[in-house]
Amino acid sequence: MDLITSLSDLINRAHHIVFFGGAGVSTESGIPDFRSQNGLYSLKSKYGVPYEVMLSHSYFESNTATFFAFYRDLMINENAVPNSAHLFLAHLAEKKDVTIITQNIDGLHQMAGSRKVIELHGSIQRNHCVKCGKSFPLSAIIASHGIPFCDQCGGVIKPDVVLYEEPLSDVIITRALIALQAADLLIIAGTSLNVYPASSLINYFFGNNIVVINKDDIPINKPIKLKINGKIGEVFSRVESLIKP
Ligand code: APR
Repeated sequence: MDLITSLSDLINRAHHIVFFGGAGVSTESGIPDFRSQNGLYSLKSKYGVPYEVMLSHSYFESNTATFFAFYRDLMINENAVPNSAHLFLAHLAEKKDVTIITQNIDGLHQMAGSRKVIELHGSIQRNHCVKCGKSFPLSAIIASHGIPFCDQCGGVIKPDVVLYEEPLSDVIITRALIALQAADLLIIAGTSLNVYPASSLINYFFGNNIVVINKDDIPINKPIKLKINGKIGEVFSRVESLIKP
């Protein structure tokens, strides 16, 4: 049985699916990932500091203006739209119980129509004042220049994204663990599984059916039922017609 047929067969037989995704799910929407050859972290920083360092809490605190220059420049992709991977998952959720656990902050799964989305690292769509807690939409960051300040109290508006040195939300982790423990199919895609604790969550899947769809091989210490080295959008486009109503 070829890989695409095997994948569609596993999906058709599943009842509770968890899709665990990373930046590779959004590359076909034009958003670079982090660790691929042409990923963000492979680029020479325009700001004299490696991008991975700039995405840290301490850099945000000590170089807030430069952080926002970098953030608007490289972390907000206003023109990005969902690709066939996002759309496939949204369509699949109309037929099956699908929970998406994503490390991405771009909001493209929700834009595609997915409802059960657990954003481990937050979202660029949500922002809040660090002083009074007032919420702000992404437009407040895009429309401002330099450091964005709260119109209510003058505090700094911080994106609701998890920076290095910041903890993940306990509520979010609990939701992810519950979904993983209830699942009978885990699809891991578009991620290098490089970042803890996100990458450790897959250890809480106790089923037999693990599928990995990734351009590069990834380190995973659990038995994999099916591995496809390919582009997730292309793979899902070919599977779509084989999914039973
Ligand atoms: N289809 C399938 N796989 C892809 C595709 C694609 N179209 N494009 C890229 N990939 C794969 C790459 O081969 C790589 O293994 O996706 C993976 C992306 O890995 P990373 O760039 O490390 O992204 P991710 O795993 O999401 O990083 C996790 O690191 O810096 C932090 O907070 C950041 O959430 C991010 C976290």
